[in-house]
Amino acid sequence: MKCKDLISIADLSQSDIEEIFNVTRELKEWHNKGYDEKCLNGKILGMIFEKSSMRTRVSFEVSMVQLGGNAIYLTQNDINLGKREAVKDGARVLSRYVNGIAIRTFGQDTIQELARYATVPVINALSDYLHPCQALTDLYTIKEKFGTYTNIKIAFIGDGNNVARSLAQICAKLGIHLHIASPKGYELTPDFVSKTKQMADGNDLIHLYQDPKEAAEKANVLYTDTWVSMGQEAEEEVRRQAFKDFQINSDLLKTAKDDVKVMHCLPAHRGEEITDEVIDGPHSIVYDQAENKLHVEKALLKLLLRK
Ligand code: CP
Ligand code: NVA
Repeated sequence: MKCKDLISIADLSQSDIEEIFNVTRELKEWHNKGYDEKCLNGKILGMIFEKSSMRTRVSFEVSMVQLGGNAIYLTQNDINLGKREAVKDGARVLSRYVNGIAIRTFGQDTIQELARYATVPVINALSDYLHPCQALTDLYTIKEKFGTYTNIKIAFIGDGNNVARSLAQICAKLGIHLHIASPKGYELTPDFVSKTKQMADGNDLIHLYQDPKEAAEKANVLYTDTWVSMGQEAEEEVRRQAFKDFQINSDLLKTAKDDVKVMHCLPAHRGEEITDEVIDGPHSIVYDQAENKLHVEKALLKLLLRK
């Protein structure tokens, strides 16, 4: 991996993504045999989390310990980045204490500024705009389940949000068709879609729909995420109404391939974007997907922090 940071999938080449997947596979195999390479012995990850997290926070922290290092969890109350002090001062000072920084915050621009001034690697652990660690985990999981991502049709049902944007970017980089069904007003913007087209060497790989059934037609993978992301709580009622038909349920499954796999980044809102029957049912791979966050993030830490 050539880049210093992981801020956006847009910064990665196809070979960077494949390298992350190869290292993930190796680390996962070793871990399942009871061995974790101590390649980050003595290294410390600073974890700035200004929003809730279970999977991302725990998997980064566990990864550091399993690789021989350690992690420090910093909430907004602890450092109050951008308010108690300028982001660039936080970046410069933290770089003198820790060997890498993972940050979950609101603005993508905060993460970019932190990375610009930090001399250590910065990892985007989710912003309002992007969730690159999730997209890497998702495509790794698809490759693991299907043995390939070539000719796999993915349908994302829901909001054109951070998860959808990073998924679109990784599909563009890997040459995968992604069909996204969103209610009017909640789609990926034309500007974003045209940028992903440039990432895909001019190929039209991102297809937008307003009808979930059209998007899900013969899909190998059905994917969804919450209707209301962190920070959008004030819009909850309006969104519930707009998204009520954008649900992965047993009826939608019938339009996809018989052996369709169902994915969700979690946390899930059962009865909203996904039914109990589907998430607990035989098509669901959501818990394997969640487990893979550990292995993918461990690979990212190994590749970025050991330099
Ligand atoms: N999928 C995901 O990022 O989960 P958390 O918000 O719990 O980290
Ligand atoms: N779109 C969701 C993803 C959570 C992992 C959010 O931003 O809240």
